[in-house]
Amino acid sequence: MSVLLKLIDVAVYVGDRCLLAPISLELTQGQPLTILGKTGSGKSLLAQAIMGLLPTALRVSGEIHVYGKRMTCRERQQLWGRELVMLPQEPWHSLDPIMKCVDQVTEVYQCVKGQNKQDALRSAEEALYQVGLSHIGNKRPDELSGGMAQRLAIAAATAGGATVILADEPTKGLDVSRRDGIVRLLQSRSRFGSLLTITHDVTVARQLGGALLVMKDGHLVEKGETMVVLDSPQDDYTRALIAAEPSVWTDIAPHSQKHDTDDILVVDQLKVARGGRTLFDGLSFSIKQGDVIGVVGDSGCGKSTLGDALLHLVTPLSGRIARLNQAAKPHQWLKLYQDPPSAFSASVSLGQLLDDIIQLHDIDRTRVAPLMAKLSLPNGILERNCLAVSGGELQRFSILRALLLDPVFLFADEPTSRLDPITAKEVTTLLVSLASEAGCAVLLVSHDAALIRKTCHQVISL
Ligand SMILES: Nc1ncnc2c1ncn2[C@@H]1O[C@H](COP(=O)(O)OP(=O)(O)OP(=O)(O)O)[C@@H](O)[C@H]1O
Ligand SMILES: [Mg+2]
Repeated sequence: MSVLLKLIDVAVYVGDRCLLAPISLELTQGQPLTILGKTGSGKSLLAQAIMGLLPTALRVSGEIHVYGKRMTCRERQQLWGRELVMLPQEPWHSLDPIMKCVDQVTEVYQCVKGQNKQDALRSAEEALYQVGLSHIGNKRPDELSGGMAQRLAIAAATAGGATVILADEPTKGLDVSRRDGIVRLLQSRSRFGSLLTITHDVTVARQLGGALLVMKDGHLVEKGETMVVLDSPQDDYTRALIAAEPSVWTDIAPHSQKHDTDDILVVDQLKVARGGRTLFDGLSFSIKQGDVIGVVGDSGCGKSTLGDALLHLVTPLSGRIARLNQAAKPHQWLKLYQDPPSAFSASVSLGQLLDDIIQLHDIDRTRVAPLMAKLSLPNGILERNCLAVSGGELQRFSILRALLLDPVFLFADEPTSRLDPITAKEVTTLLVSLASEAGCAVLLVSHDAALIRKTCHQVISL
């Protein structure tokens, strides 16, 4: 088996601080490599270092060999698309916001594969069909759901035929059937090369097989054949990680639903359309203080749009949405965005963003530190902007910002999609306790049926 990619003592630093301790690994043909690990443990930095994509503020040391040759950052960049490709953790970072979806894939077949326009268009249509997106070719990325954008990014990235594919959480936010489809697609696209996948989903690691690395706090904690590591983990952290999968959680739903509390929201015969397509019609339900209600449905069915409608960000075609809690202020009806970067400006530090809401809403500043500790957020992130923290750190920071506003209603759109199972459980427990202790109603979207089952009193299936 030929070695496609070899890392010798690759480490990443910011100033003198080590973010990723020296790591060595080999990616061989036909032998996928999967990385599981704690949020913020350096997984994405490792993938970015391999690509030659780290921000200039970060320094990388060690050797990176591709196809047996030690290559500089610039040399590796020359391989992008043709030999080496990365699906970034945030699909929006790899999509052009003003280009039609089909054109984003056609362009790759034309420019990287050298096909003529007509053939490239045909190949792109076939690629979109394979990821279940044949109907969205003429839309632009902002008209897609999070899961659809994820699939479009995969179609565009793999179109160039690169043999080495690095995929950073390629299945997040996708329901089981779509997730399995994406795993199969990545396997088939990398069959002549190899696949390095970063995931928080232990089932995905099992499906991929091959070799497994487990990371925590910038260090490699365990390494071995995937099935062996998952079936008999040696390290305490690996054991805890596997044991924290939602399927084995004990119920964390608040014990008794408060039947005596008041309705805060009543929805009657709601009909909502987007992009000319009716997403749901005749939807009626009511939400009480302290309810934790799950929202489930296939990728693109309108889960996030339901939240937008309830928060008056989208106008329904018909039906009624009545807010009954008159005492609550508008900013206490909140949404946690499915894609955390879309809720942040990169031009200011996270600390500044926090200061702004603390001042604007006269929030007690002493609440910040304990909440950050509860969310396992390191202090140092407040000095950085949203691009210089990990995907899971930003997701937890957006939860921190929401909780400081004492929400009465929180639409939490896949709030744990970028978190490892241990952190996901801690964060979900925190949201559920917010419901039972502060009486906030939480509408929880998740593609994970087990998580919804263990967490919610009631489920809306779209
Ligand atoms: N530009 C940067 N400057 C300073 N620190 C950074 C920068 N980018 C990332 N970090 C830090 O490096 C650590 C590793 O980040 P990385 O994005 O690799 O984590 P990750 O394992 O991918 O986590 P997640 O699962 O949450 O995506 C984090 O603590 C993060 O805050
Ligand atoms: Mg990451």
